[in-house]
Amino acid sequence: MKMYFDKVKELVKKALPLELSSQEIQLEIPKDLSLGDIALPCFQFAKELRKAPQLIAKEISEKINPDGLISKVEAVGPYVNFYLNKSAVALDLIEKIKDNSLIPKTKNEKIMIEFLSPNLNKPLHIGHIRNGSLGESTSKILESLGNKVIRANLYNDRGMGVSETIYAYLYLSDKKEPDTKPDHFVGNLYVLFQKKKKEDPSLEEKAREILKRFEQNDPEIISVWKKLRKWVMEGYEETYKKFGYNFDVIYYESEIYEKGKDIVLDALKKGIFIKEDNAVVAPLEKYGLPNKTVLKSDGTTLYITQDIYLAKKKFEDFDLDKSIYVVASEQNLHFVQLFRICEMLGIAPVEKMHHLSYGMVLLPSGKMKSREGTVVDADEFFDEIKQLALQELSKRGKNDEELAKKIALSAINFYMLKIDPKKDFVFNPEESLSFEGQSGVYVQYTHARISSLIRKYEEIFRKLDLNKATIKDLTNEEEKMISLLTQFPNTVEEAATQYKPSIIANYLIKISETFNSYYHSTPILNSNNIETRILLTLIIKKVIEQGLQLLNIEPLEEI
Ligand code: ARG
Repeated sequence: MKMYFDKVKELVKKALPLELSSQEIQLEIPKDLSLGDIALPCFQFAKELRKAPQLIAKEISEKINPDGLISKVEAVGPYVNFYLNKSAVALDLIEKIKDNSLIPKTKNEKIMIEFLSPNLNKPLHIGHIRNGSLGESTSKILESLGNKVIRANLYNDRGMGVSETIYAYLYLSDKKEPDTKPDHFVGNLYVLFQKKKKEDPSLEEKAREILKRFEQNDPEIISVWKKLRKWVMEGYEETYKKFGYNFDVIYYESEIYEKGKDIVLDALKKGIFIKEDNAVVAPLEKYGLPNKTVLKSDGTTLYITQDIYLAKKKFEDFDLDKSIYVVASEQNLHFVQLFRICEMLGIAPVEKMHHLSYGMVLLPSGKMKSREGTVVDADEFFDEIKQLALQELSKRGKNDEELAKKIALSAINFYMLKIDPKKDFVFNPEESLSFEGQSGVYVQYTHARISSLIRKYEEIFRKLDLNKATIKDLTNEEEKMISLLTQFPNTVEEAATQYKPSIIANYLIKISETFNSYYHSTPILNSNNIETRILLTLIIKKVIEQGLQLLNIEPLEEI
């Protein structure tokens, strides 16, 4: 789209009696595609030209002669609407598909995305899946534009929760090896501890003792800690594989939790931080934020102390242009404060850090509660959806476990991503698997339908020479479809700047709906415009394929 924007800007510059650079001209994409592909709102020139925007629009449109890529220019109220020449544009898309440049590599930043970052006393839960979908998809989106992305994960592998599992292992269990998935085994120890603590509140103090012994490097505690930690990590790895999460770096809280102390004390000496009741505090009132304690009065560190250290380490080790954190919205204030503090300390300006904050995932009541009745375990959740996918497939006469897994993943990732990250939402399993609704399965189904069309008419597709492609006699519906297709690169860019994979997910639904109604209304293969129609079908397939991949979903050739 950028190319077309540039072209329109050139035309506008020539038609305007003002000296403007391209950056100074604002263009829009009309919501209603029957109003053209690109619009120039003329309010932006009204003040300088001392004319009504309607009049400016009319004058500009009269001065521009459509040619080449632009087929029509029209003033509508205060807007000048530009219509792209759809045949030329479609050919251009085919060129881009040929050299794999549908998404232009216009960016070149080094970006770290920290995501998942679980506490190592429990298995992953459904909230982590939203986190993982967002983290992995945002990474892929940013990479597709040419950025270098480093995927990081922080293991919070110490503290009270972890100490409670160590206590339960040592004193409440028969110290056996895991007989279930190892992270679940450790999670069960944690649940056991909580249960016993209800009967005997003194256990809390006992777990605190464990934490102390851990901090004093007590060999017995360290050896159990290592064992449990290894089990949890093994379990996680298995879950990551299932969901398609990848990490380049893993940070361990146990290795860094004390390291922020020096930074804090140094900043205190320099007068950046202040002392309050013997604790060290970051004064943030001048930024309209509550002050933040960064070191406790007994000299021990806090959650934010290690985050200050880690933020600095990330920038130093990787020379980052940007550092992103995918963390639930309960921590909004924490990150606003952290980023301010990092700026005060000269680690990085706030603009270089971003909290990709997300809301809660709820489930329809009564469904899929875990044994404790609150959080839903990630592995169980996956199995439930896979089971439902299997049922859905068997209705269609198929009994394919591998396919069910892939469908479950498509359903989960798509549903987690199609909603604006900031919003809480209810994950409805049936809806996520719907072949007709606004689901990942529906998009997959569309993709598979196109693939089967291509398989069925392989002969014709094979004979087609993309180097001599012609696009002609487009119907209205086809023109609209091409307009929508040209928006793909823009959609990806917008999703990247706003950190919202939902923009791509919703675009894919629109494309799928458009194709399906086209498929119903237009004979693709027994018409006298086969070549054009096949080419359009190929473009759609490619766009859906790339879009799905950006959502961490493997496009399926067959459902
Ligand atoms: N483990 C933490 C939690 O589950 C999230 C850590 C987020 N990352 C960070 N750098 N603070 O609440």
